[in-house]
Amino acid sequence: ELHRIPRPPYRLPLLGDVVGASRSTPMQDSLRYARRLGPIFRRRAFGNEFVFVWGAGLAADLADEERFAKHVGLGVANLRPVAGDGLFTAYNHEPNWQLAHDVLAPGFSREAMAGYHVMMLDVAARLTDHWDRAGAAGRTVDVPGDMTKLTLETIARTGFGHDFGSFERSRPHPFVTAMVGTLTYAQRLNTVPAPLAPWLLRGASRRNTADIDHLNRTVDDLVRARRAAGGRGGTGDLLDRMLETAHPETGERLSPENVRRQVITFLVAGHETTSGALSFALHYLAQHPGIAARARAEVDRVWGDTEAPGYEQVAKLRYVRRVLDESLRLWPTAPAFAREARTDTVLGGAYPMRRGAWALVLAGMLHRDPQVWGPDAEEFDPDRFDAKAVRSRAPHTFKPFGTGARACIGRQFALHEATLVLGLLLRRYELRPEPEYRLRVTERLTLMPEGLRLRLERRAGSG
Ligand code: HEM
Repeated sequence: ELHRIPRPPYRLPLLGDVVGASRSTPMQDSLRYARRLGPIFRRRAFGNEFVFVWGAGLAADLADEERFAKHVGLGVANLRPVAGDGLFTAYNHEPNWQLAHDVLAPGFSREAMAGYHVMMLDVAARLTDHWDRAGAAGRTVDVPGDMTKLTLETIARTGFGHDFGSFERSRPHPFVTAMVGTLTYAQRLNTVPAPLAPWLLRGASRRNTADIDHLNRTVDDLVRARRAAGGRGGTGDLLDRMLETAHPETGERLSPENVRRQVITFLVAGHETTSGALSFALHYLAQHPGIAARARAEVDRVWGDTEAPGYEQVAKLRYVRRVLDESLRLWPTAPAFAREARTDTVLGGAYPMRRGAWALVLAGMLHRDPQVWGPDAEEFDPDRFDAKAVRSRAPHTFKPFGTGARACIGRQFALHEATLVLGLLLRRYELRPEPEYRLRVTERLTLMPEGLRLRLERRAGSG
């Protein structure tokens, strides 16, 4: 039934629809195809046919958990050698998914989050120390680089009681370099014919093996140190839960191999996308001084002179949160997720799908569907997320965190951290763009603004 789905007009034998496509920006290419081909389309690459969906009606249908579920494919499947049956990469039928989900979900409860808040403030203070020095010396700051330091330290500290010392280094921590290597490799694997990958990517594959070894060693050291310290005596960070907590009903525990997979999963999933989200938000704030002023006025009003805003004071930054949502709308930093049919079914009443058939939801394009977001969908406008606008929009039209049972477990964590940090930065600095900067987006499964630097001016009376 695929013939009903539009595809690009030029198709090369063997290679497929690769004309005009680039290996390093598969997502932005798909957005271009989407604009040309409509709400559902297909692309063939190296013998495989992929179906892409972004029309709001079809995407909402794919969110129906009765008929569809997460599909572990493409980039996610390529991460199995690193993350195995960890939460993000587990197949739906693997028993370790439910076990780890039940054991770790309390680590994201309100109480747990309130406990992380103080550590988040602490890490944010290291960022502002670093930025104060740059600002005072008239230097611009490397936004994605510094947001990555911040979010890595935050997940390491709150989840694992660990300190990577990112702010004391001039170069990225080797863990980050290894992680970027494996993410890039997982993306590249999608761009060559599978049988030829061992030859075409020989050098890259060797480096990838070394990167995975490095990730494993880092994690094994971290776990060994915790075991040697005899646990945290039940203070209950994520690592404690992984090592000590039995399933509330079955009494089962995570195996040592699975713990290793989960630690890698959380260290990676817990910082890379949040770093991108913060970076895009800072870009838009610097580009839109009026919006930044409004957000800053909210921070001043809600937080006043409190040196260290409390947990409850973060969710009160409604407008700052809208800035973040609007950034995630235009650039969802996990730009796509895959859904598979649980039984034979018909997508959107028009496209028959066999059990196991799957499609990729292009969140970045769903978030720009003019039928939902209007003719100005490409414009940055946080008011799209005021309460009234949200209420009047159809469900399943904003999906930066995926959907259903396999949606992001760290959503509240990411939103709390990012809102807190944006509030602190707005209160402390005026953000000035480099005049010639135009947004460019790098892809390594996730999205990140490339080469984004800002100039900072300390605000009067900001501590
Ligand atoms: C799953 C996005 C932050 C941990 C997901 C999925 C998306 C996503 C789209 C579903 C993927 C799929 O369907 O294949 C994001 C974004 C974030 C963010 C945009 C930041 C802005 C975090 C944080 C953590 C985290 C902070 C941990 C502290 C996970 C895990 C899963 C997941 C473990 C797998 C859940 C499961 O399948 O049970 N995330 N995430 N994420 N995320 Fe996040």
